[in-house]
Amino acid sequence: MVFKYRPIFNWNFFRRNLRRAKIFPILLASLGVVWIVVQQMRLWNLSSLKSMTETFGDELRREMERLIIVNESDDTWRNLGVNDWRGFSAYLETRPEVVLEEDDSLIYAGSTWGFIRIISIVPVSAASTQLACSFRYHSTANHTTILKKPSIRTELVAFGENFGMYYSAAYILCPLPYPNEALPPGAQLPVGLTVSINRDRSTDSPDPTDFITIRYPKPQATNEKSFAVCVQPFHHHFDKVDDLIAFIEYYRMMGVNRFTFYRDSVTSGVDRVLDYYSRLNVAVVLHWKLQDLYDFERNLRVDGIYAALNDCLYRSVFYDGYRYVLGVDVDEYIVPRRHDNFTEMMEHLNPEGAGITGAWIFRNVFYYLMYDDDLVTLSPGTPRMNFHSKTRRWERTNPPHDRSKFIVQGRDVVELGNHRIWKLKRTWSLFTRFKETAVDPDVGTSNHYRFCETEIDTCWHRKSIIDRTAHRFTHKLGLRVKNIYRTIFPGNYR
Ligand SMILES: *[C@@H]1O[C@H](CO)[C@@H](O)[C@H](O)[C@H]1NC(C)=O
Ligand SMILES: *[C@@H]1O[C@H](CO)[C@@H](O)[C@H](O)[C@H]1NC(C)=O
Ligand SMILES: *[C@@H]1O[C@H](CO)[C@@H](O)[C@H](O)[C@H]1NC(C)=O
Repeated sequence: MVFKYRPIFNWNFFRRNLRRAKIFPILLASLGVVWIVVQQMRLWNLSSLKSMTETFGDELRREMERLIIVNESDDTWRNLGVNDWRGFSAYLETRPEVVLEEDDSLIYAGSTWGFIRIISIVPVSAASTQLACSFRYHSTANHTTILKKPSIRTELVAFGENFGMYYSAAYILCPLPYPNEALPPGAQLPVGLTVSINRDRSTDSPDPTDFITIRYPKPQATNEKSFAVCVQPFHHHFDKVDDLIAFIEYYRMMGVNRFTFYRDSVTSGVDRVLDYYSRLNVAVVLHWKLQDLYDFERNLRVDGIYAALNDCLYRSVFYDGYRYVLGVDVDEYIVPRRHDNFTEMMEHLNPEGAGITGAWIFRNVFYYLMYDDDLVTLSPGTPRMNFHSKTRRWERTNPPHDRSKFIVQGRDVVELGNHRIWKLKRTWSLFTRFKETAVDPDVGTSNHYRFCETEIDTCWHRKSIIDRTAHRFTHKLGLRVKNIYRTIFPGNYR
């Protein structure tokens, strides 16, 4: 047997390692110092941005209150001064964490303290084009003044779900001029803006119809603004009148008081429903006619769905002052399984409203329409509702992000997708962002009433169960739907 001899004490070995051993703590300490310095700089930047916003805040709020509020239904797709780029709406962004992330030199260069976010559709390949932003001011006399500044950048939206299409939804970010940069006396906030390709075009003035109205926070009424619903565009003669009424009434019962609809193409029956709820001030219906150059699912995802969903986020939260935004489609019901409504459920999920969760993902449960109707009936004359009649479901609950739907706390979110949140705001700490959380299916699910999404035989072979959770709500819902139906279609009540 051979023993390998090793001296117990080797002086050279010890010296070599001692040197190395000393380096580690020093390295660690330096990294620590760097981290503290960077973190402190970030905090300092964020505080100065915050105090800048507060300094300008009161002054600008007074001006915002004087601005003429342009009807939301006047927003429409506009040409921009760049080939096939189009812009729909524009919102003020002053969240310090978001402003700092877009350009951390902003506050050194003294160029801005906030920016305007244009909801747009752009060719993916041209997104890095440098643009000039033209801001329009109203002066006291009725002529307008234009101020130009280079754009910050163009950011593709929900690009992870773009499926290689030629066009994508995008945010065009333009720096908000300082109040004292504005030329006309008495006006500090631009009322509209547009963009063009950045050449020296100091002499030209953009076509007046190319300007997009900037939506500043709307002066607030006192009523509670908790939950707003966002629905993807209605296209191809959307005609589901009964489903739409049941959908709206269900979400109103749960505590929603704003719905934003993007109207591309619907039947006259659906228009009557939309008109009814617009007059009630429950729905905002936007004209969503995309130009012909955009081709459904050939060069642009589903009728500009991501531009619509993110427009709705900024419109509901940063224009209209809502706290929570729901992303759902007309056949999807986010159902609380323990609580009576969304207020109660969100108090459970977001107890102090102070955690770092900014988005709650509700897992998808399929209630296929091919299954037989439940035999439990509602009061006579109630229109048939899938939400009540379909109680057989696929036993499996889809994993989070697989057809999931969500409720987000709007102030913490930057970019929505259809089944997930693509970007949440950074926190004040260096490495963290607000988070998405998957909701326990015992607390809430997204119940999805639709045809089998694959081969029908595959669906028939899936293990199904009866789940009547919805019946907690459907008797009351049925009465509401019956009343609304009679009001909107008095002559043709079934
Ligand atoms: C804005 O909407 C209101 C009510 O919705 C309407 O009375 C008014 O005429 C609209 N204004 C314009 C300029 O379209
Ligand atoms: C303002 O515009 C109106 C209508 O366009 C015009 O009649 C009026 O003369 C203008 N006033 C001034 C001071 O330019
Ligand atoms: C939500 O449910 C609770 C408990 O049933 C009730 O007290 C509250 O009024 C409801 N809120 C809304 C907005 O319906």
